Amino acid sequence: MRKRKVLFISSEAVPLAKAGGMGDVVGALAPVLNQKGFDVRIALPLYQSIRNEYSDDLQFLGWHMVRMGWRTLYCGVLKLVVNDQIFYLFDNETYFNHEQIYLDYTFDIERYSFFQRAVLESLDHPMDFMPDILHLNDWQTGMIPCLLEAHYRPYGRLDSIKTILTIHNLKYQGIHGRERIADLMDMPDRFMTEEGILRDGVPNFMKAGIVYADHVTTVSPSYAEEIKLDFYGEGLHELLQRNAYKLTGILNGIDITQYDPETDPVITDRYSVDDWQTGKAHCKTAVQTELGLHVSARTPLIAMVTRLVDQKGLDLLLHVLDDLLDGSCQLIVLGTGQPHYEQALKAAAQRHPDAMAACLTFDESLSRRIYAGADLFLMPSIFEPCGLSQMIAMRYGTIPVVRETGGLRDTVNPYNQYTGSGNGFSFKNINAHEMLFITRYACDVYRHMPQAWQALVRTAMNQNFSWSRSADTYASLYEMVLSQPSNRPIS
Ligand code: GLC
Repeated sequence: MRKRKVLFISSEAVPLAKAGGMGDVVGALAPVLNQKGFDVRIALPLYQSIRNEYSDDLQFLGWHMVRMGWRTLYCGVLKLVVNDQIFYLFDNETYFNHEQIYLDYTFDIERYSFFQRAVLESLDHPMDFMPDILHLNDWQTGMIPCLLEAHYRPYGRLDSIKTILTIHNLKYQGIHGRERIADLMDMPDRFMTEEGILRDGVPNFMKAGIVYADHVTTVSPSYAEEIKLDFYGEGLHELLQRNAYKLTGILNGIDITQYDPETDPVITDRYSVDDWQTGKAHCKTAVQTELGLHVSARTPLIAMVTRLVDQKGLDLLLHVLDDLLDGSCQLIVLGTGQPHYEQALKAAAQRHPDAMAACLTFDESLSRRIYAGADLFLMPSIFEPCGLSQMIAMRYGTIPVVRETGGLRDTVNPYNQYTGSGNGFSFKNINAHEMLFITRYACDVYRHMPQAWQALVRTAMNQNFSWSRSADTYASLYEMVLSQPSNRPIS
């Protein structure tokens, strides 16, 4: 049988461009699907860092001019193969030759409007890759199904291509003024309705994707249910209820060869599920020393590796931080984000110099030393579409303490003191003291119940978070979508 061709279209994909978990997911899932017999390629903007790092390997395929309202703009198309994965890179220096992936929000709307139009215009030529499925990711690519309806299908072009939109985070929707989007996208009036791409009078890329895509996925089964509720739906819950027939939650995996304490070159001591106790102890001493914490084997060391944004439950943490650090545990926070969180965490670390370190940077190698050295991993998210860090933590034998939401709920089974089962600890409500008590309880189990703790670590390290199973689910979804007639919008 002919290989199914899939084009992932995304603003991020490892190893070329990553700002958050979406980059990990796109970059890891594509190669796994390729191993399973698909031909999956990835379309990305040509950001400055890619141009600099891979300049010798970039292969120029061609260029053309892309229409954007009253302008036509240069678009170069390049090909790059990294570890056997094929990438198509879209070049326009004004839009993408910047150090950062994301810039100012208004400009981002224009940059990703260009990107979406450029990819569709390039499929035939110069890419010469006609996919069966376009697999889209978040708002940055959410308009593509609608662009197909507006500019290609009426002329019999790209007629048989199916579209799948994966929602990594519903909070960011790509919203901008009507005139501007009509201009950038050459969007005819018939789409500028509340049944089409408008939400409360303004164009919304994520909404457009949900309405016009053939299928919509989210990155965990629980999040797929939650976003149909007012609290989690970010204003789109009713739309998602109406479109529930084409909404599926598929749990993310992690790259288990990349995150592997047995082979990880940047951690102090390598270890496996059979000999983790000495290995982790060395890693703990090393990270305590590196970050200037009091070196103590018995003090439970809690870690957070996270973007510092409100989604991640930092308000809960800050509310009880001084109570938590009452002398019986230590805390490391690694990440960057909203300035007020950075300042508050820095101030807290200054108040508790022996017990807390605030590392306000994005440092991949330090993050692994933290995953390996910590005992507990705290993730009190207000919402969490999937979350990868709790899975990475478990892989390194670090026990998660999470709020029961989204993917956290789907990956962390709370410890049961009667049966000894479970791979972590969890709490239900958005309540700082509930978080504090369960974290203290976890610390108590660590300190006073060594056998229970060992069982927890073993269970956590034995979890299978590889992509293989989820990739099979995506594969069946692709077949299902291809076997069905195109979606007719319900909005
Ligand atoms: C977003 C979500 C996170 C998810 C990731 C990858 O960053 O916030 O929960 O794991 O996307 O899908």
